[in-house]
Amino acid sequence: MQKIIILDFGSQTTQLIARRVRELDTFCEILPYNKFPQDDPDVIGVILSGSPFSVYDPEAFKIDLSMLRGRYPILGICYGAQFISHTLGGRVEPAPSREYGRQHLTTIDLGNPLFEGFEMGSQVWMSHGDTITAIPEGFQCIASTASVKYAAYYCPQPSARPSGTLDPSALSPQPSALCPIWGVQFHPEVFHSTQGSLLLKNFVVNICGSRQEWSAASFVDTTVAELKQQLGNDRVILGLSGGVDSSVAAVLISRAIGNRLTCIFVDHGMLRKNEFSQVMEDYKVLGLNVIGVDASEKFFADLAGVTEPEQKRKIIGRDFVEVFNAEAKKITDARWLAQGTIYPDRIESLNITGKVIKSHHNVGGLPKEMNLQLCEPLKWLFKDEVRRVGRQLGMPDHLINRHPFPGPGLAVRILGDITPERVRILQDADDIYIRAMREYVCEDGEKLYDKVWQAGAILLATVRSVGVMGDERTYEHPVALRAVTSTDAMTADWAHLPYDFMARVSTDIINHVRGVNRVCYDISSKPPATIEWE
Ligand code: XMP
Repeated sequence: MQKIIILDFGSQTTQLIARRVRELDTFCEILPYNKFPQDDPDVIGVILSGSPFSVYDPEAFKIDLSMLRGRYPILGICYGAQFISHTLGGRVEPAPSREYGRQHLTTIDLGNPLFEGFEMGSQVWMSHGDTITAIPEGFQCIASTASVKYAAYYCPQPSARPSGTLDPSALSPQPSALCPIWGVQFHPEVFHSTQGSLLLKNFVVNICGSRQEWSAASFVDTTVAELKQQLGNDRVILGLSGGVDSSVAAVLISRAIGNRLTCIFVDHGMLRKNEFSQVMEDYKVLGLNVIGVDASEKFFADLAGVTEPEQKRKIIGRDFVEVFNAEAKKITDARWLAQGTIYPDRIESLNITGKVIKSHHNVGGLPKEMNLQLCEPLKWLFKDEVRRVGRQLGMPDHLINRHPFPGPGLAVRILGDITPERVRILQDADDIYIRAMREYVCEDGEKLYDKVWQAGAILLATVRSVGVMGDERTYEHPVALRAVTSTDAMTADWAHLPYDFMARVSTDIINHVRGVNRVCYDISSKPPATIEWE
């Protein structure tokens, strides 16, 4: 399948570029700047991302442009544009003041294919400390703002490829230029560049020649066919969590191999209220072959008296592996372990030192003697694409639009030691909160639940405060409510929930949940806080 390669120079918006390309129904891969695949015949174009570095920083990430020049159409964004210009003989200098925020393109070469359909004055988003002050020989300036002369440039670069995927006539006025270079100092991928998606469409579709064949329907068709071939008559085990990713992976695999897929869903007793039974019911309706294991007694016994967050996690992780393995081993002829790993779990994102800060985490702890191979059918998808695939597979909205939920469940949302009674209190408070959020319709008609990345209640079981109920003095625990907006959970902001919603939820929790006499709202962003409290 055709693909665009996005070389990552460490920008925070690299994933956003990929999402914009995928929105054009075009497959793309993010790779570390120095890992370009030399001989991949499916590559139709290359995008160089931004970077936290200046081209003059000694540690700045650099590549050999000769492996790309003339072989693929190239689009440099921000640092990507500066790096190309700097490397090929242009000049990059510190801008008199940091160019940040909204600007407007005051001149645009509307005849250039990158700007087809643009309007003069189009708003763009800038964020850079250096600026290009001279472009290399043979390059043309194709857009400027009031303060940035070379907001975009173009270099007609003769193709070195034996046969191009391009229609040369699309590249007028340079009909012979098959693999040119473009650079933009603004960020077309961000929302504030109002015609940014059009620019990327011009590059990906018109210039690189994408056939736009990446869609949920095509993904399901090809993946089911591939899984049939890959798995043959083998038996597969999959651990379900009730979350979107593992559920979609399960439905997809069951489309390919039916009930040769066995799913195991472990109830550790710290799921949301009624979640185990509801999700089991959902899975049955979907025709999945699921073994539900109620292991809550074991988990509660092992967690008794434990207050330290990391220790809680370790115990839960260990118990989970034990319970899962005991079930998995009963399926003696299983050859594969399936997982709902998705693309952001695997992208090797770079930090400023060039070190990989996030890499693939496999499920650890499965007994080696089981000798299972790994099957990860969603490993190329972003979360929103997983949801689209789920919809395509006919899964119900309430299952695919679910907020993420941590593996250790409510255990990391109870400060202090965990008892069944505390879990019950938190389940009740959380249920009131999440139910109200699902019901609340915002002014724009969208459900509040769908506007929020993740929400949940936290029981501050180590804290007590005084209250009064009727004529009675109370001395009970507070509940904190958390709701965040995010795109990938790496960073998050607290959600600005409507006051009338918060007032209603607070009253309902205090009136209906015994053991809680106070409700607080967590207004911390990530970083420096994390989404979960423990
Ligand atoms: P933090 O608290 O690190 O959470 O900001 C980021 C995202 O990860 C989820 N999370 C977990 N998910 N096992 C999981 O499966 C865990 O141990 C775990 N801890 C945090 C969290 O809910 C959020 O979506």
